[in-house]
Amino acid sequence: MCGIVAYVGQREALPIIIKGLKRLEYRGYDSAGVALLNSDGLNVYKKKGKVSDLEEHLLDQKNLKSHIGIGHTRWATHGEPNDRNAHPHYSQSENLALIHNGIIENYASIKQDLLNKGYTFNSDTDSEVFIQFIEDIKKNANCTLEEAVRLALHKVVGAYAIVIMSKEDPNLLIAARKGSPLVIGVGENEHFLASDATPIIEYTNQVVYLDDFQIAIIRDNKLQLKNIENVENTPYIHKLEMELEAIEKGGFEHFMLKEIYEQPKSIADCLRGRLDAKSGRVVLGGLRDYMNKFEHADRIVILACGTSWHAGLVAEYLFEEFARVPVEVEYASEFRYRNPVIREGDFVIAISQSGETADTLAAIELAKSKGAIIFGVCNVVGSSIPRATHAGSYTHAGPEIGVASTKAFTAQISVLTMMALMLGHRRGTITESNYMMLLNELEQIPSKVEKALKSAKLIEEISAKFKDARNFLYLGRGYNFPVALEGALKLKEISYIHAEGYPAAEMKHGPIALIDEEMPVVFIATKDSSYEKVVSNIQEVKARKGKVIAVVTEGDHDVKNMVDHVIEIPDTHEAFVPLLSVVPLQLLSYYIAVMRGCNVDQPRNLAKSVTVE
Ligand code: M6R
Repeated sequence: MCGIVAYVGQREALPIIIKGLKRLEYRGYDSAGVALLNSDGLNVYKKKGKVSDLEEHLLDQKNLKSHIGIGHTRWATHGEPNDRNAHPHYSQSENLALIHNGIIENYASIKQDLLNKGYTFNSDTDSEVFIQFIEDIKKNANCTLEEAVRLALHKVVGAYAIVIMSKEDPNLLIAARKGSPLVIGVGENEHFLASDATPIIEYTNQVVYLDDFQIAIIRDNKLQLKNIENVENTPYIHKLEMELEAIEKGGFEHFMLKEIYEQPKSIADCLRGRLDAKSGRVVLGGLRDYMNKFEHADRIVILACGTSWHAGLVAEYLFEEFARVPVEVEYASEFRYRNPVIREGDFVIAISQSGETADTLAAIELAKSKGAIIFGVCNVVGSSIPRATHAGSYTHAGPEIGVASTKAFTAQISVLTMMALMLGHRRGTITESNYMMLLNELEQIPSKVEKALKSAKLIEEISAKFKDARNFLYLGRGYNFPVALEGALKLKEISYIHAEGYPAAEMKHGPIALIDEEMPVVFIATKDSSYEKVVSNIQEVKARKGKVIAVVTEGDHDVKNMVDHVIEIPDTHEAFVPLLSVVPLQLLSYYIAVMRGCNVDQPRNLAKSVTVE
């Protein structure tokens, strides 16, 4: 949450920062600001609202030329979204300015000490306390800014990625992280800092990922890394593989729609080089060193949040069906505060698109402390979770910018499916012929997703009929139960319509009371082992005059004659249906949200990566 961008070098900083903030706006968008340093001094400009509101505000300002600057787009934690609470924040003397992503948990006691010393505050944020604290240390210890930052980091509790600039040193940026991401782009005589690589990729593909408790000192275009104990570390330069087009809308109205349409390619990219149906090979490089542990696992424990948790639920069905290993799927946020039982034979899988979710990271640390081996399934390369886990597989879905997760979900399921099939094959719980048939079918999924997308026009028409509904129910069974949860989540988060996902059979135990002629019910009623049962549930809803939209297997006339609207998807093996059945639900929520005038890519109150708990 919150996006950070900073620049120091030969170019003009402001356009780079503004462009970078727009790319990071998916991380938070309730206010934005920049600090620039030039002959007029160190000046902060900030505004409630989007980066475009900040841009408008900047039109009235003079002398914005600077070769160094910091910028921030905010997702409010402490203090409401307004101009005062927007970042950057000045220190008391206004000699320092700071941007911060994270939460300082002990800010209240630090603030009280500073108030007792006569400091005054212009905002309600923990971040302003942070920079005032650094300045106070610098003054009292009579030390350098770098030293003051280090001393302050020893005292603060919580999560942070910070960048600081100083009026007294026009060629210096100091950055540090703990728990919140920070990437440094290394150009020729210039450096970039950002919460992720998207603001950097256009200028350089050489990046350094800052580690927890590391401090970066960029002075006179030289990068120095030190740890919090003042020991110098050699920067390890990674080469970014990301393409610029991947982070642009490419002619689509919204990132979400682009990402929905990218799924045939993102699933193919995820399977490429790992799945070879002809030879019957599934290779996941990340598993190599832990294959023995994986193969002989007594139990698989999955940790995740939100959509990634839904992918975990699909994986529960997959691992249990194909590999006959018991699975527990845990909300990371609950797991981290229990005293969970982790045993010797457990294999833990953490799923996260961003690789930065604070609860998932904390759950990983807890499981690690209990001796577990953790395998990460993440999308963002170089993010915190892949670095905190023992091994893992990237989903290779490419940057997902729309806040509502779409292509990451299907890529996560693709990786987990390969893992389940590989495990079943190794454990001998699927026959050779079944295994070969399944691999073959999995390879067909990208083209079947392409076909599922052809219903977009029809789904748009259906959406027009239901855009004013106040509630929705999503029902599915077996592999389609997690898809029902995912469909409901998509609708809630981008259209603000209340929606609930349920296992279809649970309807009779309560939700059926909600059914009347006003209630749209989305059934996922594909031809699988629970088809007949789901059809009975559809009849129960129709008998109570509910409006039914059904996602069915192509050619299914029985359900068509029973319901108000059908959306067909291609036939596939039951275990792979979620990869297809989720597509119409993504489109349904997208079109409904657009018709309701909602900001699809940046829904209210949400941020793409939830780096606070
Ligand atoms: O980056 P992660 O996969 O760890 O994120 C987990 C959730 O925050 C995320 O899936 C969230 O629920 C999405 N907004 C869903 O569309």
